[in-house]
This record gives sequence, C-alpha cells and structure tokens, in this order.
Amino acid sequence: MAPEYYSATLIDHFEHPRNAGAMEDADAEAYVVNPVCGDSLRLFLKIEDDRVQRASFLTSGCPASIATSSAATEMLAGRSLEDAEALTRDDYAEAVGGLPKSKVHCSVLAASAVRQAIGEWRKQRAAV
Ligand code: FES
Repeated sequence: MAPEYYSATLIDHFEHPRNAGAMEDADAEAYVVNPVCGDSLRLFLKIEDDRVQRASFLTSGCPASIATSSAATEMLAGRSLEDAEALTRDDYAEAVGGLPKSKVHCSVLAASAVRQAIGEWRKQRAAV
C-alpha cells in the first residue's frame, strides 16, 4: 500500500542527494521531462564493459523526483546495462520507501532517463 507521507529514506535522499551534479566524462546522457508536471531530470552515465560504472544527475523538480533520481544513481552503479534497463519506476519508488499516491508519477523520470540514456548509447555504438 502506498504510504501517506514521504518516508525517512526519501527525505534523506532529498536533503542529501547522492551523486548530484553533471559528469564531465559521461559516456551517455539523457534529458527527460515529466509531462504531468514539467519537472525534469538530466542523467549522466559512465559506462565500461557494458556496465554502468557510475551515475550522476541534475533534477529540477519535487522532493520525490530528486530522491528517486538520487536513489537511482546508487542502484545503477555496477549494474549491467540489461539489469539497469530492467529497473522499473516501482523499483525506484521502493528504494525511497514508497511514494504517496499523488507522487507515484515522480519515479517515471528516473526510469525513462535510464532507458533513454542507454538506448542512445547503444545507437551511437551501433553507428560507429
Ligand atoms: Fe513533478 Fe514530482 S511533482 S516529478
């Protein structure tokens, strides 16, 4: 069942975002905007041997979007690209202790950005 309020985990990610900021040597990037509210996320990935080595983000949005972006960067580090793409918005929401019903859409940003960044990276590699 969806929690009524932000969890302590979510508030911690919001107040102390992990891996916030641009990544100068990123191999893949994505910029996504949530059509529901206009909040946005820019995601950066460093990829080596078909694995996400590290991830960072810049989010302009609500506490839930910042927290799920922050949690996503921790979850992505060390994952294979296939595993990273398989993560769903529910996985990101769960990682911050769940989202109140009215905030469920906020985890879409992270899920969309991960798939877009990896998809673009694959396209670029295929074109070389
Ligand atoms: Fe827009 Fe949360 S209200 S992503």
